[in-house]
Formats: sequence, C-alpha cells, structure tokens
Amino acid sequence: MLSILFLQVTLFYGLLVSAQSSFPLGYIPLAVKTPYLNGWIASDTGASPAHNWPNFFTTDRTLGWGGMIRVDNQAFQWMGDSGFNFTKTLVSEISPTKSVFRLQAGPMQFNVTFFTPIEPTDYVRQSTPFSYMFVDAFAATDAQAHNVQVYTDISAEWVTRDDTQVVVWNTTETDTMVYHNVTKRSPSPMTENGNIAEDSVAYYAMAKRSGFTWRSGADVDCRKGFAANGTLPIIRDNGFRPVSQSWPVFAFSVDLGTVSSDSQPEPVVVALGLVRDPLISYATDTSVQSRSGYYWSAYSSIDQVISTFLSDFSNAMKRSLDFDNKVVSAAAAVSSEYVGIISLVTRQIFAAMDITIPSAQPGQFSDSDVKIFVKDMGVSLRASPVEVIYGAFPALLYFNPSLARDLLAPLLDFQSSSHYKNPYAAPDLGTTYPVILGNTSDTQTLGVESCGNMLIMAYAHAVKSGDGSLLSRYYTTFQSWANFLIENSLDPRNFITADGLSNPDMSNLALKGILGIYSMAKISEAVKVSNSTYMDQATQLISSWKQRAVANDHIDAVYGQSSSWGLMYNIFPAIWLNTGLIENSTLNLQAGFYAQQSSSDFGLSLDSSQQDVAYPHWSLMTAATVPDSLPSVQSRLIRSAYLQAYRVANKFPLPIKYKASTGDQLGGIGSAIQGAAFGMISLSLPNVNINVNSVNSPSGSTKSTVNVGAIVGGVLGGLAFLLILFAGGIFWRKRQQKRYAAVTIDDDAYAKPRPFNTAVSSSAPVVNYHPNDPDLARSPPSPSTTSPGPWTPPGWDGVSQPQQPGSGTDTTPDSLPVGAAGAMSNKQREALGLRANQNRARVHNPTPSESAVSTLSNPYSAPGSQTEELRAEVEQLRREMANIRHMAEPPPGYT
Ligand SMILES: *[C@@H]1O[C@H](CO)[C@@H](O)[C@H](O)[C@H]1NC(C)=O
Ligand SMILES: *[C@@H]1O[C@H](CO)[C@@H](O)[C@H](O)[C@H]1NC(C)=O
Ligand SMILES: *[C@@H]1O[C@H](CO)[C@@H](O)[C@H](O)[C@H]1NC(C)=O
Ligand SMILES: *[C@@H]1O[C@H](CO)[C@@H](O)[C@H](O)[C@H]1NC(C)=O
Ligand SMILES: *[C@@H]1O[C@H](CO)[C@@H](O)[C@H](O)[C@H]1NC(C)=O
Ligand SMILES: *[C@@H]1O[C@H](CO)[C@@H](O)[C@H](O)[C@H]1NC(C)=O
Ligand SMILES: *[C@@H]1O[C@H](CO)[C@@H](O)[C@H](O)[C@H]1NC(C)=O
Ligand SMILES: *[C@@H]1O[C@H](CO)[C@@H](O)[C@H](O)[C@H]1NC(C)=O
Repeated sequence: MLSILFLQVTLFYGLLVSAQSSFPLGYIPLAVKTPYLNGWIASDTGASPAHNWPNFFTTDRTLGWGGMIRVDNQAFQWMGDSGFNFTKTLVSEISPTKSVFRLQAGPMQFNVTFFTPIEPTDYVRQSTPFSYMFVDAFAATDAQAHNVQVYTDISAEWVTRDDTQVVVWNTTETDTMVYHNVTKRSPSPMTENGNIAEDSVAYYAMAKRSGFTWRSGADVDCRKGFAANGTLPIIRDNGFRPVSQSWPVFAFSVDLGTVSSDSQPEPVVVALGLVRDPLISYATDTSVQSRSGYYWSAYSSIDQVISTFLSDFSNAMKRSLDFDNKVVSAAAAVSSEYVGIISLVTRQIFAAMDITIPSAQPGQFSDSDVKIFVKDMGVSLRASPVEVIYGAFPALLYFNPSLARDLLAPLLDFQSSSHYKNPYAAPDLGTTYPVILGNTSDTQTLGVESCGNMLIMAYAHAVKSGDGSLLSRYYTTFQSWANFLIENSLDPRNFITADGLSNPDMSNLALKGILGIYSMAKISEAVKVSNSTYMDQATQLISSWKQRAVANDHIDAVYGQSSSWGLMYNIFPAIWLNTGLIENSTLNLQAGFYAQQSSSDFGLSLDSSQQDVAYPHWSLMTAATVPDSLPSVQSRLIRSAYLQAYRVANKFPLPIKYKASTGDQLGGIGSAIQGAAFGMISLSLPNVNINVNSVNSPSGSTKSTVNVGAIVGGVLGGLAFLLILFAGGIFWRKRQQKRYAAVTIDDDAYAKPRPFNTAVSSSAPVVNYHPNDPDLARSPPSPSTTSPGPWTPPGWDGVSQPQQPGSGTDTTPDSLPVGAAGAMSNKQREALGLRANQNRARVHNPTPSESAVSTLSNPYSAPGSQTEELRAEVEQLRREMANIRHMAEPPPGYT
C-alpha cells in the first residue's frame, strides 16, 4: 500500500485573512496548473468552498468538483451545492501555491487545501497537468472523539463546455491507487470552446488506504449514498451518456474511523488532472509537428504519471513550503499588500504556459527539443504574445531564466526563418492557440513595441542568466530589429502600444525602442561584434528623448504636451538592467509627480489619454521604478493593485485593466502578464557576465545559425494539415491505451539550486516547519513591518455581477516592461552571490539544429519549402482551422 507521509503541519505564509470567516478575495484559485486545468471558486461572501461550485477561470463555466464530510453520521457539504447542510468556513488563506480553508462541520474542524505545485526549475513536474487537494488538520471543538468520513467527486464538466456531449469513462485500480478517467466520446483534437479544451481527459486519483471506497454514477446516487452510509459501493456506471444527463460523477470516500485529539488521521489526498496529448500543433518548415507535455520524457504511461504524482505528495508539500516561504519572504520585504498580490498571481503566471517536446511513441520521448508557449489567457487565442511575455519577464528570470529562453526561442526561430519577411518583430506566433502557425501579418504599427520588447528581453535573459546562446544564434535578426528601432523609435508616428495607445510621439513607447537599441549594443558587445553604432545611437537618442520628453515637473506622455502624463513603466528595464540611461533626478521627478496626482483607491490611469483605465501590472512595474526614498509613492501604486486584486465584488481573476474610479474590470483575466508584479523582487537579480559560448550555445558562432528545419511557419497543404490533425487524434487515443514499461525518475535530478532561492531577504520571516507538532507551526510570521499600514477592506458586495470575462477577444493586449526601482547595493548583490546561469536545473537547451523536428508522420510532410506561397498557405490553414473547429464543436457560445 502506498503510504503517504502525513504532513501534520502545513504552515502558510500567505495572506492571513483576519476577517472572521471571509476571504477578502472575490475569486480564489483552486487548481490553476495549465491553460485548461484552471479551476477557481467565487468566495461568495466568505462561505466558499461550500455553497458554490468551482468555475473555470473565465467564470462562465461551472466545473463539477464536490466535497462532503460525515461527522457522527451527519453529512455536510464543504464544496459545491447539492442540498445538504453546509460546513462553515472559519478562515481562508492563500499562499503562492495553495488556497487553504479551515472549515467546521458540527463539532469537527478541519482543513481543505488546494495545492497546485509550482516547480520552476523542474520541467517534468511543472508540466505535469495535475493538482492536489487534501483534507487534514482535524480537531474537535468539544474534545470528544467522533466518527468521520470524507467524500469527494468530479463531474464530466471539466472535459467539455457543452453539457450535451456524450462522455465515456472508466475506473482503473492498481496495487496502490485508483483513478477515474473521463473524456468526450468524440474528442476534438486541438480544439477549444470558449477556452475549454475539447480534447482533454480528466483524471481523479487517490492512493489506496484503509476505509477507502470509490464509485462512478449519477451525482445524486453517489452523494446521497455517501450521506446515508458513509461509504460507497464499488460500482462502475457503464451507462455512457451526456454530461448533464443524470450527471455522471466520479467519486472517492474514506472512512477515517474515530478521530480524536490523539488519533489524527493521515491527510486525505486526491489528485486532479486534465491531460491533453498532444498539447500543441506547431507548424515547422515542412510539416505540422505534434508536441506533447515535457513530462512524457520521464514517464511511459499515464499510470506512472499518476502514481508518481500521488506518491510525491509529501515531498511536493515540503518543496512547496520552501517555495512559498522564499517567494513570500522576498515579497514581505516590500509590504504585506505586495505579499497578497504575489500570493494571488504566481499560479496564473505558470498556468499560462505549455512546456512541450515533440510527440513520440510512448517511452520514446526525447527532452532535447523543448519549446514553451504561453497562451494569451483571458484575452485571445494568441500564442506567445510578446507583450505578455515582456510583462511576465521579471517573474520568469526570477524563477528560472531557462523558462524565458525556451519561451523566446520559438519566436526567434520563426522570425529568423526565410518565411518571415517583416523587418520588425512579430507581436506573437499567431492567433489560434493551441495550433501555432506563426504570424506573418503586417503588424508594423506594433513594430516599435514588439522590437523593443524582444531586444530588451533577449538582453535581459542573457545578462541576468549569463546564458548568451540566443544572442549569437539570432544575431542577424536582432540587427534587423535594432535598425528598425533606430529609424522609428525616437519619434514614433503611426505606431501603437500593445495597450492600444496610439498618439504620435509617445515618450514611453519611444523609451522602450531606445532601450531596445541599447540592448542591441550590449548584445553586440557580448557576441564580440564590435559595432559602436548601436551604443552611439542609444546614447544620442536617449539624450534627444530627454530633451523632448522630460519637462519641468514630469515626463510628458506625448512630447511637448505638458498636460499629458502616464505611468512610465518602460523605465523599469532601464533600471533593472543597469543601463544608467535614466538619471536619479528624473526618477525622483517622475515619482514625485505620481504622488501629486489624485486618484481613487484603485489607482492611477495608465495614461492621460485613456482616462480612468488602470492596469495593475503596469502600476506594479512602475512601483519598481520609484526610488526608495519615496516609499509612499511605491506603496500607493502597490495598494491600488492590491485593492483591485482583493476586491470582494470581483468574482474573477485579477484583470489586466479596470476602471480606475470604480474597480470594475475591463477584461483580460488570468493573464501571465501579472508576472510584472515580480518587478520589485527581481531587482535583486544582478547583471552577470554573458557567455555566448555557454552550455546553451550550439557552436559558439557569432553568426546566426538558424536551422531551417526547425522553423515555424511551415508550408503545408490544407489537406495534409487535416490529416495530421486526424492522425493526432488517433495517436492520442493510442496513448490512452498503452504505455510502455516504467521509467525510474531520479529524484536527485530535481534537487538543484534555484535562482530565486538567493533572492530571499535576510529580514524574511523564518519558516517554522515542525512536522510533528501542529501547535508549533500554527502562527504564521507577521508580514513585513514595512507594511504601509492598515486598510479597510471594501464592503461585501454580493449582488454586483462581474462582467463576462474576456473569453474571446474582448480587449487589446497589454505590453509590459520590466519595472524596477532603485538599484540594490553591491553588497546586497554580493550577498546574493547570484549567478543565475549556474545550476539551472535540468537544462534543456536544444538548439534548433538539434531539434530534429520529429514530425508526426512522414507521409504528411509537404515537399520542399515554397516560400513565396507560404503566407497564402498559412492563411489558408488558418481558415481551415476555423472551419474544423466549427465542424467539430458547434455548441452555443462558441466564438
Ligand atoms: C488550517 O487552515 C488555517 C486557515 O486556512 C491555517 O491557518 C492553518 O495553518 C491550517 N492548519 C494546518 C495544520 O494546515
Ligand atoms: C441539516 O441539519 C439539521 C440539524 O442538524 C438536520 O436536522 C437536518 O436533517 C440536516 N439536513 C440534511 C439534508 O442533512
Ligand atoms: C479511460 O476510460 C476508457 C473507457 O471509456 C478506457 O477505455 C481507457 O482505457 C481509459 N484510459 C485510461 C488511460 O485509463
Ligand atoms: C473498465 O475497466 C475494467 C477493469 O480494468 C474492465 O474490466 C472494463 O472492461 C473496462 N470498461 C470499459 C468500458 O473499458
Ligand atoms: C446504504 O447501504 C446499503 C447496503 O450497504 C444499501 O442497500 C443502500 O442502498 C445504501 N444507501 C444508499 C442511499 O445508497
Ligand atoms: C498577427 O498579430 C496581430 C496582432 O495580434 C493579429 O491581429 C493578427 O491577426 C495576427 N496574424 C496572424 C496571421 O496570426
Ligand atoms: C553596424 O551596425 C549598423 C546598423 O545595423 C550597420 O549599418 C553597420 O553596417 C554595422 N557595421 C559593421 C562594421 O558591422
Ligand atoms: C541613484 O540611486 C541609487 C539608489 O538610490 C543609488 O544607488 C545610486 O548611487 C544613485 N546614482 C547616482 C548617480 O546618484
């Protein structure tokens, strides 16, 4: 029997919510692991998780996930709403990896914890699409012993948006565990419907233990049966039917027997997974490649994935306590409100990514060609939106620079290929996630934004990690973008920002462009192509920029218009990367100006030309540009984002923009762009020497060595594409049926130092981890003393309805700079001893030439590359994709 080490004590440093029974948070993350395994719950006046069903992050799709407890034969429901008596929620907390509820059922108190592991330096674990929920910490209020049984189930709502779809399922029992699986009878490969994947298999799994029973069946039968009997009859319901026809659910229960003060049961742990395979269709030069989750490089069957995940629970908990403590400690050095923001957004940054390798036969996956893609969560189906990655960059470099590299590489590959003709950088890899075709459209108006973002990110990755492999490999592409910026960035006309600002002569956009040129200068230094043009240009342009933009009391948002102003978040990389381009006097001037602007609690607008629209990530990045001598300005910017994030009326994840006066959201929920919040923490990452011949460099060549074979945006007939999609479906089904023999996972392989470890400030709260003594570990450390003081939570607003989230294309995307403030002292930097490029765990640094583009199947490979026709072909594919999706999935609400 699988024995799960009981972690008696789980100490969380997340926001301790003082209100008696409420989360001052409108929408609470539960299982937020991938773009599609993304379950949250509305806090519902603090009574959640009882009274409510979880929801997809878009808020418009209920996800059946229920929980019950029986105490001395009396049944209570602690998650969901099926007509039973409810538990009472006493306290709720979140940390970066967990949401914890202390609940009461009759005389029994207990905890339910939703735990989504974040493993930034371990691609196997990070890409594993599973999340934990566990029940523990039982304590009777009357000091008596009580009989306790625990129950939980999921419905099939996780695997489709359309409740009329027929679903099929089974339950698999091994020596150590039982798991349910459920999927659509006819999954639609690579298709989503309003962000819900229509090609996924949901798994609900539990390790065997004494008192353990399971069944599948109608929701009513399962839940009423448990309420009546406290156990489940072992039954496989074989009547495959639509999701909502006698709602089939997949249940577990555990009879804990007598629970008393001296017999604490082991925690009841379940694993919820949402598996898609393949994850991505990726157009290469010659074909469309299927790409799967990175974790398949370590496992050969879904049984193995699940059993490893279950048996890893106690170690995963230990790692997560460490993770939470480090992140929260670093944030606590800023303020407790900042801790609140960081605790909320960290999961969604990682959940927006798919870490992929080429699909292969079970047991034969190779981890040598890693590509990470990010979805434009809550906004559109854009793949790897550049401004979102730019926003997330402080978080990516803080947690593991390899993530940044593996995200940038596909964008760079595509744009270095012969298929990409534009002289400026593309804004994304296309608009059909999870089908990735590249973007060759005319996006010139976003050229300054995208070139600036890409060059700044390429340099930032190199100078914070030491890994210069991208710089040499894509040098010629960078040159082309730098030349575009030299031509266009000082006086940007006919350019827009990713936020849709379109004035001529926008100083913030110009600054980004100039920083792009500066980055190019540093890139050319690093690859030892001594070309002084770039630094000369950067110096000259920044000097002209100052003359045009910096007025008496602030930076004009539009040159020469003294009434114009904005949050100059693009100053962040200037500080973060130690460019020395912006003087302290300018920083002080601008920060002082922010202090004088009146604003509501919800903060300052981004730009005077877009009245009353605030962007929390830009506010936070701007906070990182405020000199330490003006802490009140910094805390004001942080507080505005905090008040928005923790506004109880918000029954949705933190949006990318909202009305500054009221806090009403304007779209873009759940985006990874919120990684901009890490600007302040990531200021502690020092610049390091760049090694272009680093481990990641294919050859040390200073020339671009793009391998055409690995290039996205391939030429391919529409028919072949259809066939491949079809083959993908077949392949997917085979995968479910058969996995090869076990692969042993070497645990040591993961235990590598992480860059972000070293960023913990010495004043951080100490972790008291006392596995055997709950009392010792109960008191969370008090948040930072630098907290800007108490605030009154906004009142409950149970009636206000959130707007429909952006589950389509409702907003324009944002672009983010890396915001940062004052430099750390050299002493601090030395204390960190940080060489981020060293010791990256599990370095997967395929070069394009290595990535042997394992195409799904040769027969479908199109012949040679017909470059001239590519664009038309890709357009054609895109249309066909749209058609396929329509044919496959006609349900209501489909966009
Ligand atoms: C139980 O939950 C409460 C509130 O969420 C938390 O403060 C406490 O630390 C948890 N106890 C354990 C043992 O995890
Ligand atoms: C709810 O609790 C009350 C009081 O304990 C009890 O009488 C009633 O039967 C319970 N209802 C259900 C549906 O369990
Ligand atoms: C999932 O359930 C189906 C029955 O619908 C079964 O055929 C299949 O083998 C199961 N897959 C796995 C991976 O257990
Ligand atoms: C479900 O699994 C059981 C046990 O492995 C097996 O006997 C049964 O045939 C399966 N049912 C279906 C529909 O796949
Ligand atoms: C309770 O268990 C008994 C026998 O074990 C069974 O006959 C009965 O149907 C169960 N009750 C419910 C509501 O499932
Ligand atoms: C390219 O990106 C722009 C901006 O996101 C978008 O409007 C356009 O549709 C994209 N083109 C393609 C071919 O994906
Ligand atoms: C330096 O860069 C500029 C701008 O890209 C280019 O025009 C020039 O030819 C380069 N000079 C050398 C020596 O490579
Ligand atoms: C600018 O401010 C930073 C942080 O306060 C300080 O370390 C640095 O020395 C200042 N630079 C100059 C030129 O005064």
